[in-house]
Amino acid sequence: MRAGPVARLAHGPIPERAVRSRPQYEVCPMQALTSRSAEAPLALITLPSPKLRRDELRVKVHAIGVNPVDWKMRGAGAFLGFMQRLLGPSGPLVVGVDFAGEVVEVGARVEGLEPGVRVVGGTDFSRKQRGSYADEVVVRADQCARLPDAVSYEAAACLPVAAVTAWTALTDHAGIGDGSRVLVLGASGGVGLFAIQLARMLGAQVVGVCSARNTVLIESLGAVALDYGAGDPLEAARAHGPFDLVLHLVGTDTYPLKACRALLSPTGIVDLVAIRSADYPAVLFSRQVRTILGRPTRARLAPLVDALARGELEPMIEARFALADGEQAHQRSRTGKVVGKLLLIPGAPREDA
Ligand SMILES: NC(=O)c1ccc[n+]([C@@H]2O[C@H](COP(=O)([O-])OP(=O)(O)OC[C@H]3O[C@@H](n4cnc5c(N)ncnc54)[C@H](OP(=O)(O)O)[C@@H]3O)[C@@H](O)[C@H]2O)c1
Repeated sequence: MRAGPVARLAHGPIPERAVRSRPQYEVCPMQALTSRSAEAPLALITLPSPKLRRDELRVKVHAIGVNPVDWKMRGAGAFLGFMQRLLGPSGPLVVGVDFAGEVVEVGARVEGLEPGVRVVGGTDFSRKQRGSYADEVVVRADQCARLPDAVSYEAAACLPVAAVTAWTALTDHAGIGDGSRVLVLGASGGVGLFAIQLARMLGAQVVGVCSARNTVLIESLGAVALDYGAGDPLEAARAHGPFDLVLHLVGTDTYPLKACRALLSPTGIVDLVAIRSADYPAVLFSRQVRTILGRPTRARLAPLVDALARGELEPMIEARFALADGEQAHQRSRTGKVVGKLLLIPGAPREDA
């Protein structure tokens, strides 16, 4: 893959009183993986480091989690593309949300995080921030949780979108606890594997719908596995319900909403994580149907980091790619067959190097 044009540094040195940084750290250009369109491959280019505001911090990125939303963003239609340009950051589109790394510089108003601290977090497009497919990110402190030494950057980088989405659905949306029943449709993907482990951690009984090749994995996490190749899995799930939560990670064209709602307890909900436009009327008019935006924040990440540190949560990493090989990671993710997570590692040697 050829590198794109090298952008010029747009700003001078940062005033010393506005930031606290490690003496050896210098603000320098960053490497970022950018998208021009759904069709053009991701391109690694050099960009000027964003100037740090007083409530922001700069993180040297060590690991990046890949999520389907990262490649879906690239294929946004004309209207969504226009909204991205309007609401998002200026300059080339840097995709990605999840990151884990080391704080190298903090603004004067940042409290509780200082250079040298290890963190995990998510970038926020609506705050006009660049995405996380880069060797550094600039975010606000409320987007990062501290990492204890026991938690690796790679394990942490799996958390932000996938585990926060699962956790928000289980806790905020469905109030899952001891004895609850949870059905996970799409159990072996990034969100699904976290959802099973977190639901078990909360004391729930879990049923996971997956393909035959993944049934042993799902059962090893303490869930009942239903092979979707061996008949209608929603019919098979009936014997294990009624459910307090149907976590829908696949799409209602595959598992229709009506059939999912028929499996609910009187207070249960279907949470549409992979939502289609045809689903919005149900979300608006039915108390049984919700949707979710898994937004990583410090408050949402902290309990998940604790669970990692206690060993109650264990990410499964299917493959690691060099940052420059992000296009290959997206091709793998687009197959819809990934088990667990894919990671990008800045600084790692390229596959074909
Ligand atoms: N709203 C939000 O904030 C939010 C957040 C995260 C994710 N999402 C969306 O939620 C969906 C899932 O995300 P993810 O990260 O978990 O995706 P993922 O990791 O790409 O999921 C892949 C998994 O889906 C399984 N799968 C495919 N077809 C299936 C079927 N018919 N029945 C059961 N399992 C099936 C595959 O297993 P097999 O190969 O064995 O079939 C594979 O292990 C994506 O559409 C994503 O965009 C939305």
